[in-house]
Amino acid sequence: MEKLLIANWKSHKKLQAASQWVEQFTTATAGKNPRGTVVVAPPFSLLQTVQEAIEGFEAPLILGAQDVSKYPFGKYTGEVAAASLADLGVRYVLVGHSERRRHFNETNQEVAAKVSQVLEAGLIPVVCVDREYVQDQAAALASDQLEKVLVAYEPVEAVGTGNNQDVGVVQEVVKEIRQAFGEVRVLYGGSVTEFNVGEYLLVCDGVLVGGASLEVSDFFALTYH
Ligand code: PGA
Repeated sequence: MEKLLIANWKSHKKLQAASQWVEQFTTATAGKNPRGTVVVAPPFSLLQTVQEAIEGFEAPLILGAQDVSKYPFGKYTGEVAAASLADLGVRYVLVGHSERRRHFNETNQEVAAKVSQVLEAGLIPVVCVDREYVQDQAAALASDQLEKVLVAYEPVEAVGTGNNQDVGVVQEVVKEIRQAFGEVRVLYGGSVTEFNVGEYLLVCDGVLVGGASLEVSDFFALTYH
């Protein structure tokens, strides 16, 4: 199966920079070979702009989102429901990123509720885990949901630090994740760059990229040969 390479822009970029990024990425990739399917997950405020740019420039990109409401449509001020994401053209949704756990106290139960919403909307959840809560996170999901998720292994000490994790350790944790979740596709995230991406793609099904996704030149070098 094709590898999956996901750009997580986090809380960065304004409208013009977002569409320029898509245009420049499209120009850079013309006639080149991707290492896999490439997804871009902008903040909510840029989803529509990025989707329009993807369509307008015929960009080799799929739309992702960084989070979702744990509730369906309803009286939940400030929330964005999974059905709204689907309507915008989103296909992949990150759930339970370590920054959401750390800064917004997101729990395993909330992550599980979000996974349900994402699946109900017909989208693909990418559940972010760290080694110590792999078991608990898998246990929080309904058994029929386990096989439907993608898992992103994101060791907190590697996320946004420049200290990417040793690929041998990643290989061990991928096994632990499959013991807990079943035969799921597992991505690695944590200071992935154009220089180390090749190693990770040998031991897992893709990568989740934060810092190195912000500049087109970095992300192009990471995603294309
Ligand atoms: P990083 O972020 O690539 O900047 O380490 C990864 C992530 O948070 O998804």
